[in-house]
Amino acid sequence: MAPLLNPPEVSRHDPAAAQARLNALRAAIEQHNFRYYVLDAPSVSDAEFDQLFCALQALEAAHPEWITPESPTQRVGSPTYTTTFAPVTHAQPMLSLDNAFTEAEWDAFATRAQERLGRNTPPVFAAEPKFDGLAINLIYRDGALVQAATRGDGQTGEDVTLNVRTLANIPQFLPDIRPSLLEVRGEVVLSHTAFAALNAAAEAVGDKKFVNPRNAAAGSLRQKDPRITAQRQLQFFAYGLGTAEGLPLPESQLALLDWLASLGFTVSEYRQLCDSRAAVLAYYQAMQARRTTLEYDIDGVVFKVNSRAEQEALGFIARAPRWAIAYKFPAEEAVSQVQSVDFQVGRTGALTPVARIAPVFVGGVTVANITLHNIDEITRKDIHVGDFVTVRRAGDVIPEIIAVLPERRPADAAAIALPRVCPVCGSEVLRVDGEAIARCSGGLFCPAQRREAIKHFASRKALNIDGLGDKWVELLLEHGLIAHVDDLFSLTVARLLTLPRMGEKSAQNLIDAIEAAKNTTLPRFLYALGIREVGEVTARALAVHFGALEPLFAASVEELQTVPDVGPVVAQHVYTFLRQPHNIEVMNNLIAAGVHWPKPAPRAAALPLSGNTYVLTGTLSTLTREEAAARLQALGAKTSSSVSAKTTAVIAGEAAGSKLTKAQALGVPVLDEAALQHLLAIASA
Ligand code: IVH
Repeated sequence: MAPLLNPPEVSRHDPAAAQARLNALRAAIEQHNFRYYVLDAPSVSDAEFDQLFCALQALEAAHPEWITPESPTQRVGSPTYTTTFAPVTHAQPMLSLDNAFTEAEWDAFATRAQERLGRNTPPVFAAEPKFDGLAINLIYRDGALVQAATRGDGQTGEDVTLNVRTLANIPQFLPDIRPSLLEVRGEVVLSHTAFAALNAAAEAVGDKKFVNPRNAAAGSLRQKDPRITAQRQLQFFAYGLGTAEGLPLPESQLALLDWLASLGFTVSEYRQLCDSRAAVLAYYQAMQARRTTLEYDIDGVVFKVNSRAEQEALGFIARAPRWAIAYKFPAEEAVSQVQSVDFQVGRTGALTPVARIAPVFVGGVTVANITLHNIDEITRKDIHVGDFVTVRRAGDVIPEIIAVLPERRPADAAAIALPRVCPVCGSEVLRVDGEAIARCSGGLFCPAQRREAIKHFASRKALNIDGLGDKWVELLLEHGLIAHVDDLFSLTVARLLTLPRMGEKSAQNLIDAIEAAKNTTLPRFLYALGIREVGEVTARALAVHFGALEPLFAASVEELQTVPDVGPVVAQHVYTFLRQPHNIEVMNNLIAAGVHWPKPAPRAAALPLSGNTYVLTGTLSTLTREEAAARLQALGAKTSSSVSAKTTAVIAGEAAGSKLTKAQALGVPVLDEAALQHLLAIASA
């Protein structure tokens, strides 16, 4: 597309070249219209299409003698090419809208309207969302719905009456009034929920998915079997009229919408009058902010001169009214090309593919990197290096690649494979069967894992070393001032001052922040260690349960599992982590450097049974095992589900099995129920 959009300057003086470009633009637009309106499968983004369209408009403005009625700028939509639905000629053409993309373009529109109307002030505007669906004309004769047609090329559309009749929010009859003819116009849209369900169902059976709700809505309305349309939960928003005979019409756009609502049509709840430039801009901003929370897509707002008399005075140009404009939002979708895919290594060694794309402006920012989560996502979306892809960034949501445009795949596009070795340290990459995540096996040997571990250690919810952000960590590692988390505590102002462009003040600030972070809490400390699967919540649960580091070290995998939220996998991660010499050394170094936290409340130590661990087995007669465990715990004891040499005693009820045998084998004391009662009694005394 680039050569079409960036004409050589000489074309102005070279009519043949300009004419060639004009033809090329028209052909491209024609082709995109066909894909959009007929195939419901566009291969360029709306923004790219708009750029082509603007380029053609500019060229025609420079050469008005070349404008012909066939030019896409003079027509609406696309001719109907399929024979599935009978053609319908619209009694009154269904027009398009001119677009504004900037405040300046809005101002130009408002000024033109004001001048043509001979007013001293801008006209009052009725504002509505611009629904991103497909336009439909409904014909009511004598109060009954008799025909529904798509917009088609604006003159001729397709008869989709049977399908439209299945839409729940379109009245089949008008209440009370029987005008000889009434054409109601509006937009058919598909909700995000219905769209997601439709695509999930398509994916489940291996069908092609729809690119966006608009195409899905169009596809749903053009079904041969109306029963399928009926299942799709399409919605209709009425926004205007075509021909109307035999009844008086409301005097303004806003009154018209209210009237349509009274007839049973759904109209936008966000309709509003705007009587100043400030009000217009505020409405635009407010709807843009609301955009992500709506259940259906909107791609801008439409401002219409409110007074019908003024609308009539302004009239139409070729394809659009002079009294209305679509003020478009920045596109949330754009097309770009994948230039490469890198694999980033995270704190736990997880390899995350990141697509580097040709920078593209989407959702109000320039996007160049997009995370692809895991290799399965690449396979599922069939992304190759070199592919053109649709990029979406809606609201503040992180950008994503929603689909590849298969018809634009270059011949030399390259498939993407999971690397066999870590791109950072060269260690083997391992992938557990059935898991989506592949990991570098290098552990703290891998510089990337080390770097991420240090960032995590310093982060806000961990040791919260104020000011030690990613940049600092990278700088310190790069210059060899640190290699592991504990090295942070041997940093000095003097050593920091060896860094390039380092000032005394920044150096002192960092040292102060590191010093301050030494005073921490046990949950923070445990979280900061970066044990796999141990997030904030688990770290806190472990800290509460064990109260200090020593009993945590002593805990068996079974005992760890008695902590709330700790299952076998987490328990195993914690257990293994605490037994690795390197980790023990780092923890010792941290404590030796002065990292400390409040000692556990003396409560646990003061209780009569603290330090004892009991295993309950068999059936008790005077209380349940759970009650017995609760009473023992209340007295400071721990209970465990497995017997080890460290078990204080096994409490055996009726029909005790393997645990009793094990206790006997290990020489662990065994108490019967009477002994338990005795123990509880003396401990409670
Ligand atoms: S009024 C005379 N109002 O936008 C033109 N159109 O780009 C009357 N659209 O074909 C159009 N929301 O399909 C109008 N609130 C709204 C709209 C709206 C979406 C569509 C409509 C139209 C297209 C023009």
